[in-house]
Amino acid sequence: MEPALLEGLLQHLTMERRASAFYFANSLWFGERELRGFSRFFQQESQSEATHAASFADYLIARGQTVQLEEVAAPRQSWDSFEDVMAASFLLEADVTASLQQLYSQAERASDNRTIVFLDPIMEGQIQSENLFAHLLGRVRFAGEQQAALLILDAEFTNGQYNPFYLGERFNNN
Ligand SMILES: [Fe+2]
Repeated sequence: MEPALLEGLLQHLTMERRASAFYFANSLWFGERELRGFSRFFQQESQSEATHAASFADYLIARGQTVQLEEVAAPRQSWDSFEDVMAASFLLEADVTASLQQLYSQAERASDNRTIVFLDPIMEGQIQSENLFAHLLGRVRFAGEQQAALLILDAEFTNGQYNPFYLGERFNNN
């Protein structure tokens, strides 16, 4: 495997681990405020980011590479508002999408088709994640600091009704 592409894949794996730690911290932040729907949502997101990191590890192992883990810094745990937490989460998703796009270009330049095939479904899932977080940020921003509105959003998370509505039928899963 091309060294620069290998380095890129390892860095992305670290980014997924960082996202997992960040979402776990968010789960605690909402848990401390008794918002169980938000808290559970972020716990699930934390687990899914850990699974993404594991997928990259699986792929690197399948390619005969050694997975050298890097340090993951403690995530931020203090926020001024609900909107700040959601905005930071959305920005993280946008960073992950950008990192995947960069990996994709790197794999293309290296003519590493196997990596391109590996990245394809991950890219698709990541685009949906970014859409989801944009939607959630929009709703939290709309609710502002109104506690009644935030409790309604919290109940939506508890009931699993948090996916964006799409006008086209392809992604509609509500
Ligand atoms: Fe991820």
